[in-house]
Amino acid sequence: MRFLPILPFLLALVALILGFLCIFAGSKPNFLESYSILTLNVSRIGQNLVNASSSGSSSTLSSFFHDLTDPIVDELEGDLNDAAADIAKDLGLQDFYSIHIMDYCHGYYEPGPVKNATIHKISQNVTGCSNTTAMFAFDPRAALEKSLNDSGHIAGTTADKILDSIDFPQDLEDGIHALRAAFKAQFVLYCIALSFTFLTLLSCIFWVFSGGRLGACSDIILAFFAFLFMGVASAIATAIGVKGSHVINKYGHEIGVSATRGGGFLGLTWGATACLLLASMVGCFGCFGAHKRRQAVRPYNGEKP
Ligand SMILES: *[C@@H]1O[C@H](CO)[C@@H](O)[C@H](O)[C@H]1NC(C)=O
Ligand SMILES: *[C@@H]1O[C@H](CO)[C@@H](O)[C@H](O)[C@H]1NC(C)=O
Ligand SMILES: *[C@@H]1O[C@H](CO)[C@@H](O)[C@H](O)[C@H]1NC(C)=O
Ligand SMILES: *[C@@H]1O[C@H](CO)[C@@H](O)[C@H](O)[C@H]1NC(C)=O
Ligand SMILES: *[C@@H]1O[C@H](CO)[C@@H](O)[C@H](O)[C@H]1NC(C)=O
Ligand SMILES: *[C@@H]1O[C@H](CO)[C@@H](O)[C@H](O)[C@H]1NC(C)=O
Repeated sequence: MRFLPILPFLLALVALILGFLCIFAGSKPNFLESYSILTLNVSRIGQNLVNASSSGSSSTLSSFFHDLTDPIVDELEGDLNDAAADIAKDLGLQDFYSIHIMDYCHGYYEPGPVKNATIHKISQNVTGCSNTTAMFAFDPRAALEKSLNDSGHIAGTTADKILDSIDFPQDLEDGIHALRAAFKAQFVLYCIALSFTFLTLLSCIFWVFSGGRLGACSDIILAFFAFLFMGVASAIATAIGVKGSHVINKYGHEIGVSATRGGGFLGLTWGATACLLLASMVGCFGCFGAHKRRQAVRPYNGEKP
């Protein structure tokens, strides 16, 4: 019975839990909602319309209203004079869309989307999530269209037309579409990493009872592969956050759409990666440390009378 293998066992167990939390965060409404890869904030979508109305340039506005039904136009005309109005809500959109590994969730900012003299702390009220799918890839335009369709505000026109009317940027859509392969690759890599992490746990149990170097070596190899796959998955997830928020902020700024990366998610995924590297290094200690001890002991045994 050895005690050294307990350390990599615990490290791999922590990595397994963190990895599962990464994959399942946001898979149900309010389950680790803040651990998203990326959060899209469309609460001020149509900011360009507010500016157009305040500067009196009515060409943008009249082409916009042309496509809409009277009740929405009435509501919007009232709100356009209010610089803090929630245009997203008028149209039937949600305030935010948070992107997770297997789905996205959406909801409203409470008490309001923008901080002002009375609102210091903004919280997210999740109203629902998309169905979880294994190889999920976020499509901003489809997500917004789905909200518009579901809202029932748009009788007489189509979701597609409304998004065209607010000049929803094609460059933003294309930029996120370019990340499809990365979205799918990250899911597969997380699954492989978690499989190796599970095998690492088994190898540690084997090491405890066998006590030999074979146990330590299998821990080194399995934990190292788990580390590699977890590291690459984390790098891809980080890249999705960085690239996605860059594209959304660059092209969305014009219409009042922004995005933020999730810091908590990065903590989970890189924490899991670090645990696996440590688990592998402890294996090295067990393997080569034991080897040295045996070499040091052998000459002494030889001199024994
Ligand atoms: C702050 O915003 C909320 C809603 O967004 C609004 O009801 C409130 O009047 C605003 N407060 C100030 C001081 O502007
Ligand atoms: C949402 O975006 C608007 C406009 O970019 C910004 O003013 C607001 O602070 C953002 N809200 C949150 C909660 O990030
Ligand atoms: C969240 O939204 C639901 C339904 O829209 C509402 O009943 C609930 O009070 C909201 N929660 C908070 C904390 O505002
Ligand atoms: C989501 O799942 C439910 C039940 O499993 C199903 O009825 C619904 O059609 C699904 N929605 C989508 C958009 O696939
Ligand atoms: C929204 O509704 C239109 C027509 O009713 C349909 O063509 C479109 O596919 C729907 N979009 C989504 C994302 O469900
Ligand atoms: C709208 O106007 C505000 C204040 O005048 C400005 O800060 C903002 O950048 C403008 N937004 C766009 C999209 O032009």
